[in-house]
Amino acid sequence: MPEAVRPSKPQRGSEIDLHVHDLAQGGAGVARLDGYVVFVQGGFPGDRVRARIGKSKRSYAEAQMVELLEPGPDRIEARSEHPGAPWQVLPYERQLEEKERQVREALERIGGFESPPMKPIVPAVEPWRYRNKLEYSFGAGEDGQLALGFHRRGQWDAIDDIEEDVLASEKIDAIRLAVREWCRGRELKAYDRGDHSGFLRNLVVREGRRTGQIQARIVTSPGKFYPEDLAPELPVQGLLWTAAEGVAETTRGGETKLVAGKEWIEERVGDLRFRISPEAFFQTNTEMAEQLYAIAAEGAGLTGKEKVFDLFCGIGTIGLSMSGFAGHVWGLEQVEEAVRDAIRNAELNGIDNASFFAGDVRTAMRPLVEEAGKPDVIVIDPPRAGLSAKIVRRVMEAEAKRIVYVSCNPTTLAPNARQLVDDGGYELKTVTPVDMFPQTPHIEAVAVLDKVG
Ligand SMILES: C[S@@+](CC[C@H](N)C(=O)[O-])C[C@H]1O[C@@H](n2cnc3c(N)ncnc32)[C@H](O)[C@@H]1O
Repeated sequence: MPEAVRPSKPQRGSEIDLHVHDLAQGGAGVARLDGYVVFVQGGFPGDRVRARIGKSKRSYAEAQMVELLEPGPDRIEARSEHPGAPWQVLPYERQLEEKERQVREALERIGGFESPPMKPIVPAVEPWRYRNKLEYSFGAGEDGQLALGFHRRGQWDAIDDIEEDVLASEKIDAIRLAVREWCRGRELKAYDRGDHSGFLRNLVVREGRRTGQIQARIVTSPGKFYPEDLAPELPVQGLLWTAAEGVAETTRGGETKLVAGKEWIEERVGDLRFRISPEAFFQTNTEMAEQLYAIAAEGAGLTGKEKVFDLFCGIGTIGLSMSGFAGHVWGLEQVEEAVRDAIRNAELNGIDNASFFAGDVRTAMRPLVEEAGKPDVIVIDPPRAGLSAKIVRRVMEAEAKRIVYVSCNPTTLAPNARQLVDDGGYELKTVTPVDMFPQTPHIEAVAVLDKVG
């Protein structure tokens, strides 16, 4: 048999002109080069682009658009240069269509569901300035001044200074600018990962959208730092300082000190109040978290008697918002600080039918079933990586009648749902995409699975 002719793959660093015809899961544009696939960051369907090749594998390459040669028919003007909002060049209606399609396609292609029981996507209440948590990076600006903004796409060491963040509230914009000016005034330098010089690393701001409470946390390298006189200049509930070692860019870990005010902020979701500690996860879109939890509660179909497990519960938001309709809620979460918040949040809201435990779902699921008995409903809200096959087995062992799977990644929801159907005797009843993150390719979805028979 004649050997198939394999197209020659493009070289790393080379620049080529491509026609983008599709969007892949995760949001990159898809182009073809004699059948060879190139994923183009920044390219959208219909665009003709010049792209620089990055990683280049046997069957595909990754590339970054360096020039837009001809815009596709749907492209619109970006509101502002923002690496965290790459989909702002698509009209919002197109973003919604695309997200709905990506959830369906993941379930069809990866999950093998022939016609997934999709409900229409729930659009965001507010397509701009919706984020309640922002992480900014300090860097050396092009004008020699200290910059505080975002990493330039594809360039880990370049930080673009920003005056306006179109995903954050105006209050957060004002705090970021005030912190930058204060640091410039003291001639503090950004930490340089190349030569380990400098000091300032990140600014993390969290805002209770319904309470108006704001927390600012400055992350630096270890060293002398006296931000006490910055605190009165910021309209914040608390100012914290984290000293972190190592070259990795992360705002987690390190040693955190309270500089002024309180260590936590409060937020309201529906009728409930939630206390949030700095290390705890909290949905980044408060208004849409309310809708997401309402959809999850509706999917759970509670009658007031059920035993509900809230796995990956964070600070207890989903379980507590279901507790009024359940017999008892049992939450499981690995970050101890978040579990402490969950227990306190139950008290804060006068809820006495919810218990929370710290543990890894992989190893703590069996002990939880021993302690609490088998659940009627399991709510699962894992990180983007989804569930390992082993965790899915642990979930199946609990034999809940219903599973409500809240997913922030359809490509991991799909194989998890397939395993629950094939090996656990569940049926996929509904899948509702929810747009928590307008202007970005991120998609949230709530899937309801019922045990057959
Ligand atoms: C997507 S968040 C969901 C949090 C919460 N349900 C909410 O809506 O705010 C995922 C949570 O899972 C926790 N987590 C990650 N891996 C875990 C594991 N193996 N066992 C227990 N919790 C885990 C994280 O700390 C995080 O709080």
